[in-house]
Amino acid sequence: MTAKVLRGRVLSFNRRPESAADGGAYAYFEDGGILIAGGKVGAVGTFDAVQAATPAGTPVTDHRPHLITAGFIDPHVHFVQMQVIASYAANLLEWLDTYTFVEEQKFADIEHCAKIATAFFDELIRQGTTTAAAYCSVHTLSVDAFFAEAQARNMCMVGGKVMMDRNAPAALTDSAASGYEQSVELIDKWHGRGRCHYAITPRFALTSTPAQLEAAGALAKKFPECFVQTHMDENRAEIVRALDLYPDAADYAGIYDRYGLLGRKTLLGHCIHLEQREIELIADAGSVAVHCPTSNLFLGSGLMDMAGLHSAGVRTAVATDIGGGTSYSMLRTLDEGYKVGQLRGGGADPLLSFYMATRGNAAALSLDDRIGSIGPGLDADLIVLNAGATPASALRLETVKTLAEELFLLQTLGDDRMVAETYIAGEPAKSRLRN
Ligand code: GUN
Ligand code: ZN
Repeated sequence: MTAKVLRGRVLSFNRRPESAADGGAYAYFEDGGILIAGGKVGAVGTFDAVQAATPAGTPVTDHRPHLITAGFIDPHVHFVQMQVIASYAANLLEWLDTYTFVEEQKFADIEHCAKIATAFFDELIRQGTTTAAAYCSVHTLSVDAFFAEAQARNMCMVGGKVMMDRNAPAALTDSAASGYEQSVELIDKWHGRGRCHYAITPRFALTSTPAQLEAAGALAKKFPECFVQTHMDENRAEIVRALDLYPDAADYAGIYDRYGLLGRKTLLGHCIHLEQREIELIADAGSVAVHCPTSNLFLGSGLMDMAGLHSAGVRTAVATDIGGGTSYSMLRTLDEGYKVGQLRGGGADPLLSFYMATRGNAAALSLDDRIGSIGPGLDADLIVLNAGATPASALRLETVKTLAEELFLLQTLGDDRMVAETYIAGEPAKSRLRN
């Protein structure tokens, strides 16, 4: 891992932009340089300044005229649903029963786990996603395959074994005790190894008994450095069933709160149909509401009010939710999130969107001291974006005058074709994919 310098147009956020005109929220170098050494960023600035401070002879990779940003972060994705994506169903619960709970049973097979793990990490790299928070299946084998692949590729990854002890096929259920014990073993084995982080993963209220949510809460207490990830308030019928199963709870968030599952490291997928009390509860707890726009549209779940939740003091993030989601691309995800915002009174400006996909999602994962922006000491997980990668986008790029316009073009017409290179801890990874 010898030192190198990347040259290109460099964009990095230092805080959340207040508006499209908030130039103080980011650093942008038209002719920028990034010194990388030991997998981390050594320096960032104008190319001339970085080169002047770098030993003579340090190799330079010239990505001009492309844009270099921090890698994308996907904080809610199901790695075991790669063969579920694009499955037709009327709604969430039908989709889970008809396809998802069938597909996830295949992860009892170690070869299937390895095959999908390889495909999953290849796809992330192809799309410029350098960190993800992923649901594995109920099988510990799937978690081992996930983290083994993450470690082999030196990627910063969050993942965990789904805990489910009811309302799922027998082949997909654990028990309160075995889910607890297996999670402890997996945490001991993987959390903190390489760049791996463990997420305690009770799937959602419908598939866990009170005893299992209690066990998940005990895990969260015993391992406060681990994440908790689950689903909440995604679908109206789901909410009715959750409250039937937990009749003492005031609302859905109250179920998780009762078992100590709402903390600052808790990632709550969807959060579409929240009551005011729930908004206040998760805002006070510092838990993260994860917007999954392509999934919410595909399953007809609803239009999450991301801007409203942010204004109410809730920490927010944006994610693909493959395989309910319909694209691995965070660019496609930002575009669909923008359209959902439009239907709710105004889509996010492009600076805010790109902040969310990088530093914003890093902050939601409490990992912004390591990833999500480009600065000295941070991990060199970077992407190179070419807004003119397709004939149609190249034509539109001819008329683009500002950085914000370029970002909006990337988001609106973009997908994996716009990702010219993905660097993982300073090493080029996309150009090294086999196909
Ligand atoms: N709720 C419980 N499990 C799932 C899942 O796999 N996908 C989505 N979108 N929602 C869920
Ligand atoms: Zn999900």
